[in-house]
Amino acid sequence: MPERPESEELVLSFLADAADEFVSGEAISDKLGLTRAAVWKHVEALRAQGYRIDAIPARGYRLAGVPDRLTPLEIRPLLNTHDVGQVVHWYEEVGSTNDRAKELAEEGAEHGEVVVAEAQTAGRGRRGRTWASPARKNLYFSVVLRPDLPPARAPELTLVASVAICEALRQAGVEARIKWPNDLLASGRKIAGILTELAADPDRVQWVVLGVGVNVNARAEDFPAEVRGEATSVLLERGQAAPRALFAAACFTALEDWLDRHAEGGFAAVRDAWKRHSATLGREVSVKVDAREIVGVAEDLDEGGALLVRTESGVERILSGEVRMLRPR
Ligand code: BTN
Repeated sequence: MPERPESEELVLSFLADAADEFVSGEAISDKLGLTRAAVWKHVEALRAQGYRIDAIPARGYRLAGVPDRLTPLEIRPLLNTHDVGQVVHWYEEVGSTNDRAKELAEEGAEHGEVVVAEAQTAGRGRRGRTWASPARKNLYFSVVLRPDLPPARAPELTLVASVAICEALRQAGVEARIKWPNDLLASGRKIAGILTELAADPDRVQWVVLGVGVNVNARAEDFPAEVRGEATSVLLERGQAAPRALFAAACFTALEDWLDRHAEGGFAAVRDAWKRHSATLGREVSVKVDAREIVGVAEDLDEGGALLVRTESGVERILSGEVRMLRPR
């Protein structure tokens, strides 16, 4: 994506801060140190990108509508972070944001840089599944992280991300829950998923890419037939579309908040929140671990993020597997 002049973003922030009030061209040019002609040029450039800006002589400019897009221009003014999302690499379409973020990580991308796409042509889920990624409906992003962690503790970051995305969904009015380890469910259906990939030396993680897909404004017909019965979205849960840029900014902010808590207090600082939002604990489950099937009651999440399942022959500690809930609640 071409670099945008910073003053265009500043003009937009100025208009956004004024909400539905008019601001005079003079006030904008004084504040930002631009000529009136330059302000007009930026307003025209913003209009060309889909921003609706009213202009009335003697009153000035008013922001009347923003495009439903996820470029840095839409997201950055809404962000409240120091790292996550301060640099956004935006694509109209990409194979997989995880693949692009991995390339950027190898090229030296910094902690918190995010890749966002309006559509993915090869969106990937866990266990080799595909992730349906229709254009401009949902949120598909991947964050590059450079945590100070030994590789064995990297899976904790996936649990951290699941708490953050769960809380962003709850703020958006969706009663989301976490199915171990990191599937986000609403009304028992999948609303978001997380795919974590990393590169590591024997004793230290080099980079982690956290890929997050959230079904935001998808309708039933936007999902492939084979997952339609098992998937939901913010729109389907609330009966109302969500502004995607606002939701993306909420996800980035929550992610950074929980990553900071994890960096300071370790997994113990996250575990209680994960347990509070869990859809799995207390349920009778069947967990597929490679070729084994473990059946029992999901009793707890331990201090390493493993699921503890009480079976007829004792407690099993499960580090990775595919959970199926055996009885409806
Ligand atoms: C899962 O639940 O199986 C994980 C789904 C992860 C999907 C996201 S969408 C953004 C990022 N890019 C990908 O190709 N996958 C992740």
